Amino acid sequence: MGFVVDWIRERVPIRGDQLRELTNEPVPNHLKRWWFCLGGTPAYLFVVQIVTGILLAFYYSSSPQTAYQSVRYITDDVTYGWYFRSLHKWGATFMVAAVILHQMRVYFTGAYRKPRELNWLVGMCLLLCTLGVGFTGYSLVFEQLSYWGATVGANISDTVPLVGPVLKEMLLGGDAYNERTLSRFFILHAAILPGTMILLLAIHITLIRLQGVTEFKFEDDAATEDHFNFFPDHLYTEVIAGLVLMLLLSALATILPATLGDRADPLTTPEVIKPEWFFYVTFRWLKLFSGTFAVLSMGFIVLAMFLWPWIDNLLRRVTRREDASVYIGIVAVCLIIGMTVYEAAVAH
Ligand code: HEM
Repeated sequence: MGFVVDWIRERVPIRGDQLRELTNEPVPNHLKRWWFCLGGTPAYLFVVQIVTGILLAFYYSSSPQTAYQSVRYITDDVTYGWYFRSLHKWGATFMVAAVILHQMRVYFTGAYRKPRELNWLVGMCLLLCTLGVGFTGYSLVFEQLSYWGATVGANISDTVPLVGPVLKEMLLGGDAYNERTLSRFFILHAAILPGTMILLLAIHITLIRLQGVTEFKFEDDAATEDHFNFFPDHLYTEVIAGLVLMLLLSALATILPATLGDRADPLTTPEVIKPEWFFYVTFRWLKLFSGTFAVLSMGFIVLAMFLWPWIDNLLRRVTRREDASVYIGIVAVCLIIGMTVYEAAVAH
């Protein structure tokens, strides 16, 4: 055994204490609170999505003639296919929710402020990629809502001034939904977007390691020590959160498995077209202010989100209030929840 360890050591010259230093960073005590595990949760779910996604890709076939049939085959015939498809579907919902909750935790604790502005930008790119993976994934099933959801999405991008038509053409691989569209969505969903996310996550985690997480002091922090070890103490918390999530995902996949609607029919527009729940707010916004104004204002909001660390800095200097962003955040969250519920409650 010692011979094997020596053999490896000679070839991979990393010492035990170097490895310990790398994995054993002391983290601030406030990380013991569960909502500070919200960054680890989307990371864990991302792995679940990659593993279940690879299993689904063994059977999925991305042409309009075969896509729906292949999803039906996965659901009805492949051993445990229904289970892995349902895990993937619920995992997607949980992942989007976890990213939003993590971003809210970062926002409301002001953890995006100097020197973490760059990591906020990386986080915003991760948010857009997560939503992009959700959108393209919904389209792959090739049921009525997948098809019409994708068509509506492409038509919305068409209304962006100047670049709209090019955006639409790039998304669909032509000026309307065609034979190539689905494989384009599949490549975006299974390769380009997850690949980009892996790269962004590497930058995100490296920046967190270089800067350390923001230090907070809570009044009820009774512990005498300010820090505890990442390994194994914090990792245990993350593993417990992961196991609870796995049980929850598994239970939901079994009790409420993914279903399959009618096959896409380009000639019959469904009475009600709805995107996934996480696009309800966008969809409602576009209905409230139709046309170019809706799309432009949406773009403006996303830009303001990207630039938030600098806008917040300016606001704090002008208003001389540290907590201005908290009030803006509360209004924004109420609006988002209000519009999501509104869209969910009405048919049109
Ligand atoms: C796939 C999505 C994401 C993953 C896996 C992820 C992962 C993480 C992890 C593990 C941390 C360490 C602290 C914690 O657990 O809270 C963290 C911190 C951070 N994240 Fe994310 N993140 C994601 C998306 C985002 C988004 C959407 C934003 C904001 C736009 C963001 C901004 C930040 C910032 C600024 C920090 C530093 C917080 C601090 O120093 O306290 N992240 N992220």
